[in-house]
Amino acid sequence: MILAIETSCDDTCAAVVTDAGEVRSNVVSSQGVHARFGGVVPEIASRHHLELVNAVVDDALGRAGTTLGEIDRVAVTQGPGLVGALLVGVATAKALAAARRLPLVPVDHLHGHVAANFLAPDPFEPPFTCLIASGGHTMLTHVHDHGGFELLGQTLDDAAGEAFDKGARLLGLGYPGGPALSKLAADGDRAAFAFPTAARVAGLDFSFAGLKTALLYKVRDLGEEETARRAADLAASYEHAIVEALMARVERALADDPDPRLAIGGGVAANRLLRERASSLGVPVHVPPPELCTDNAAMIASAARYVEPVAFPAYLDVDAYAHAV
Ligand code: KG4
Ligand code: ZN
Repeated sequence: MILAIETSCDDTCAAVVTDAGEVRSNVVSSQGVHARFGGVVPEIASRHHLELVNAVVDDALGRAGTTLGEIDRVAVTQGPGLVGALLVGVATAKALAAARRLPLVPVDHLHGHVAANFLAPDPFEPPFTCLIASGGHTMLTHVHDHGGFELLGQTLDDAAGEAFDKGARLLGLGYPGGPALSKLAADGDRAAFAFPTAARVAGLDFSFAGLKTALLYKVRDLGEEETARRAADLAASYEHAIVEALMARVERALADDPDPRLAIGGGVAANRLLRERASSLGVPVHVPPPELCTDNAAMIASAARYVEPVAFPAYLDVDAYAHAV
């Protein structure tokens, strides 16, 4: 059994997963404190991880009906993410592993989002194309095997989740913006406003900065009262543009693939419209349940099954990294 810890952003997460990919427990403690700032404040996130991490680990072990004595290895997100936040998880994982002389498995967060697709009861086997869309990253990858991924394209500016969050803020919605904007969009007309999908960005790269600016200008032009009256239409049209921008690149990648198969990961993969749009592509598509799309430690444990463990005491030198490697 693997105990995994994930603290790369504002969720404190721990999970117990078996070698066969069965999720025995998956605990996520979201730090509500960031909503009032309209985004994650790194220093506050680190402090909350420090306060929560031991309780979250205990809860994950308890819910799995196990103890540290039955754990075979400890996995932890090494990066990318907020370094101060990552360090809390890395230090905790080192301490837990070292106390029992267990091996440690450092895991890349993005490999984790891919590996959410490998979990039981419905594992999706490579090779496949994988779209990873979260608050910090938007990338199109090819997954040849369980051990990693090849980057095909990525965002040139904002991430898709960031576009949701910034759009939500312009419409006066809370943080995180994705779920709030999507909920509002359900009552709107997605054809009401034409927002750009970065059609001029060739190949498999993404761009969301123009879309965000287009919404900003639209909100200015409409004025406060009219923006409030048309909020659902604005949200629906904006959400539609993000989903179409993502799917345009996915369709390009799949068109060149002799055996087109698609998986999706990252917080934005929890989006209902994106899930519907992806499942109507006419190729095999796998999307993990929403709770395995947003940040969680079960996906980190899943990836850890395919990463070489580091023996004690060599991992005491393992450090966190902020940016994708
Ligand atoms: O993967 P994730 O939990 O954390 C990062 O690694 O960034 O992704 C968080 C992002 C946020 O930007 C949030 O607004 C977005 O995923 N998100 C959604 C939905 N649920 C979360 N975006 C659109 N629709 C959703 N239902
Ligand atoms: Zn993530």
